[in-house]
Amino acid sequence: MKENRTIHSKITKKFKTEDGQIVFQRGQGGEVQASDGTTYLDFVMGYGPVILGHGTESFTQSVAKSLLNGVMMPGYTSFHEEYLDRLLIGQPDRRGAFFKTASEAVTAALRLAAIETGRRGVIRCGFIGWHDAQIADSLKWHDPLASPLRYKQKYTANMRGVGDKEPALNWHDLSLETLEELIGAHRSTVGCLVIDAYQASMTTPELMRSAVDLARDAGVLTVFDETKTGGRISRLGYAADHGIDADLIVIGKALANGAPLSMLVGSTEHLATAEKSRLSGTFSKEMLAVYAALATLDDLETPRADYADGWAELGVIGTRVASSIAAAAEQTGAAPLVSAQPVMGGAMFELTYAEQLLGDRTRRDALLDSFTDAGILLLEGHPSFVCSAHRDTDWDELTRRSAKAFTQWLTTGAVER
Ligand SMILES: Cc1ncc(COP(=O)(O)O)c(C=O)c1O
Repeated sequence: MKENRTIHSKITKKFKTEDGQIVFQRGQGGEVQASDGTTYLDFVMGYGPVILGHGTESFTQSVAKSLLNGVMMPGYTSFHEEYLDRLLIGQPDRRGAFFKTASEAVTAALRLAAIETGRRGVIRCGFIGWHDAQIADSLKWHDPLASPLRYKQKYTANMRGVGDKEPALNWHDLSLETLEELIGAHRSTVGCLVIDAYQASMTTPELMRSAVDLARDAGVLTVFDETKTGGRISRLGYAADHGIDADLIVIGKALANGAPLSMLVGSTEHLATAEKSRLSGTFSKEMLAVYAALATLDDLETPRADYADGWAELGVIGTRVASSIAAAAEQTGAAPLVSAQPVMGGAMFELTYAEQLLGDRTRRDALLDSFTDAGILLLEGHPSFVCSAHRDTDWDELTRRSAKAFTQWLTTGAVER
């Protein structure tokens, strides 16, 4: 077998067959094809960015046409301005800083908090990025509160920007008492609370609102990290939808249908601090992602036959995907152990486990392999993602493949891969 030259991170290594790592070569709508010609129903969507679909015609044509205008100018352009005007419609006092990755945008928020409060420590709730202070001592945040796997600390050594004077703390259990204790114990060092909006799916908007109020009352800058949710469940995400008044929001992933774009959004006041503190980069002003983001908005803002806009349609599509997988679990007798449910309206969905499986890494990994073998790529221990092109899913085929996956999983044990 030919050796791959590409160095993988944990998340790019997930999908393999008995022959080894899957190498992808093309995407079309809601499906991807591997280099051996096998076609998969794709519910990974590049881990969230692909929101319209792979290689969709009007998006691709629109971006291709814009590219004739060039990819980078000496500074920001009328396209960046138009994008912000449309993204932040009706919010004239808000501004946005352009980044490529959400990790960059979160790092920007942390620096901004340090400048404004004089304190460099952070309290995190959820996965908030790959940079050192974001991932150091991190948990398995996408597992439910009842899962023993959630609480095992990872990446505990060799991370910069973390220590007694700048702690990276975890608000792990979504209890307000715990948050209050954390803030109380680290009042002199913590300047920022960053909440991954996905964590809100495990609690209520009221609790999240109280968490933001609590942090603000203690002089801690609040950030809602809508990297997975902004542009996917709605234009700006969960906090905007539920009137949660965080100081800053980070959006990313789904903004540009796969092109790299993330933004830090907040009041003119907060963003003025960002302007002074050199938060930028060579590629922050590139235009490919902005052309793609404008084409994505063009599509999602357009009313559909039965839906007010593309976000409403996505919710219905993902809800149907989850119920098709859940139906297959019922049919095959897997349902007492595993099922699927829509998350935050349905533009994301997730596998759900019976209690005895929550801590069983081996059986859970085996389930992912069985889905891959049956021609479905999805995530486990993490929400999966849908795109608009999944409206054309052959629903019987989805149920049939899911049933095949559950049957294989129930009848074979975990196979070493
Ligand atoms: C909530 C959240 N924040 C930040 C990140 C980091 O984003 P990026 O991979 O664009 O740096 C991710 C995912 O990767 C995420 O889910």
